[in-house]
This record gives sequence, structure tokens and C-alpha cells, in this order.
Amino acid sequence: MPSIGEIVRNSQIWKSVFRHPAPLDRRNRIVVMLTNFFLHLHPVSVKKQGIALSYTWCMGGVTFFLFLVETVTGVLLMFYYRPTLEWAYADILALRDVASLGILRELHRWAAHAMVITVWLHMYRVFLTGSYKPPREFNWVIGVVLLLLTLLLSFTGYLLPWDQLAIWAITVGSNMARATPLLGYEGPFQAVLNVGGVDMITQGSDARFGLLGARFVGEETLNRFYVLHCVAIPLAAALLIAIHFWRVRKDGGISAPL
Ligand code: HEM
Repeated sequence: MPSIGEIVRNSQIWKSVFRHPAPLDRRNRIVVMLTNFFLHLHPVSVKKQGIALSYTWCMGGVTFFLFLVETVTGVLLMFYYRPTLEWAYADILALRDVASLGILRELHRWAAHAMVITVWLHMYRVFLTGSYKPPREFNWVIGVVLLLLTLLLSFTGYLLPWDQLAIWAITVGSNMARATPLLGYEGPFQAVLNVGGVDMITQGSDARFGLLGARFVGEETLNRFYVLHCVAIPLAAALLIAIHFWRVRKDGGISAPL
């Protein structure tokens, strides 16, 4: 009499999903890893020392986990938050006052702070272990862009509560864009873009203006930061994280101590 487990494993439905028997020996394990969509994302084998917690600090993994927390809580927050002068601040207060949603906002905020800390620690670990050296130098460069995107996510998210702290912090922060080389109207080489005696880079056309959508922080800025924070930067980060992981695999897996 076959057991229930055997009946299930021999059924057409089970076999259509799982094409191979249980991976009990090495050969079958490899086949299962390579033919299952979710498992094929993982390497078939890894160096034991390379995944030791004392070596990686798991900081890349924790950063990725926090990115996922941010994505899920961020999407849920989008159901309740409206990025307009009329509603932004009121919606944030409502999120705080409605207890179950209040914790949602706190989760999003604290995970964001934590992600900034863990991404720095991850970079520090990669530096300490010399894992930026060939063949991993390109992944280091991707990492630098990921670091910038993480900081930009924090920066753009800071404006959304639309309270005094947010407005003045972004006013001060975005003033730095004035000093962008070439593209900031007070920055170095700004005069290079002077065509026929006319300045191309002015207060109304420089990098700061592009960021704010206006001369001063206002409704255009809120709209711009909302789109950057919820769509553009997360998409760019997700794409780069996928390439980052793919490169870890192609560069021979996580480096290991010599
Ligand atoms: C959103 C940001 C990031 C995420 C989610 C992320 C994730 C990861 C993960 C999961 C690994 C596998 C090994 C480990 O966990 O330590 C890794 C490896 C690596 N990361 Fe990142 N990373 C990020 C940012 C960075 C930054 C800022 C740098 C450096 C500027 C960087 C450079 C590298 C390099 C060179 C490796 C290969 C290390 C090795 O083989 O030992 N990453 N990353």
C-alpha cells in the first residue's frame, strides 16, 4: 500500500512542478538546482569559508533584506499617502494616529536608517577583505552606485512627510547641488557652458532647479521627490542589485580568505 507521500509525489500535478526526484546525491542536487527557477538563483556549491559570518558579516544579505522590507512597507504606505500640499502632512499624521498603520511608517523609517548603516558596513567589509580587487572591481563600481542610490532614497524620502524639518532639511541639502561642477550655477566650470555671451547654467536651469522642479522647495519638488523615491530610484536599485548578485556568481562566488 503506497503512502500518501508516495501518492502525492507520483501524481501528475507534482511531477509537472518538480521534474526531478528528491536531491539525495550530489548529481541529483546539481540537476535540481539548475532546473528549478528559484533554486537556480543560488550557486550549486559555495566555499565554506566564503559564507562564514565572521568573513561576510552577512552585511550584503542584511542590506538586501532591508531593501525588501522597504519595498513591502513602502508599497503599503503608498495606499495611504497622497503627495500634495493639501494632504501630505495630514496623511502622515493619520498614519501615526491609526495604530496599526503607525507601526508601518516606523518600520519603513527605521529600516531605512538601518539600511544606510548596513550598506556602509558591507562596503567596509568588502574593503577590509580586499574583495574589490580583480576580478571583482566592476562589482565594486556597481556597489558604489548602489550606495549612492541608497543615500538618494533616504534623501528623497525625507521630504515626503512635508513637515518643517523635511522642508528645511531638503532646502539645505539641495543647496549643495548649486555647487555641482559644470551644472550648478555656483559650481566650478559653470562658465564653460557660456554660449555667445549667454550663461546656459542659471538659477532657473541648473542641477538644483532640475532636482526641485522650481527655484524653491514647493509642490513641484514634492511631486518630483515622490516619483524619484517610489518609482525611479527603487527600480534602478532593483536592477543594479540583480546585476550585483549575478556578478558575485560570475566572479567565482563570494571571495574567501586566503
Ligand atoms: C543596496 C546595496 C547592496 C546590496 C543589497 C549588496 C549585496 C551584496 C551581497 C548579498 C553580496 C554577497 C556577499 C556578502 O553578503 O557580503 C555582495 C557582495 C559584494 N558587494 Fe555588495 N551590496 C550592496 C552594496 C555594495 C557596495 C556599496 C559595495 C562597494 C562599494 C559593494 C561591493 C560588493 C563586492 C565587491 C562584493 C563581492 C564581495 C566578495 O566576493 O567577497 N556592494 N553584495
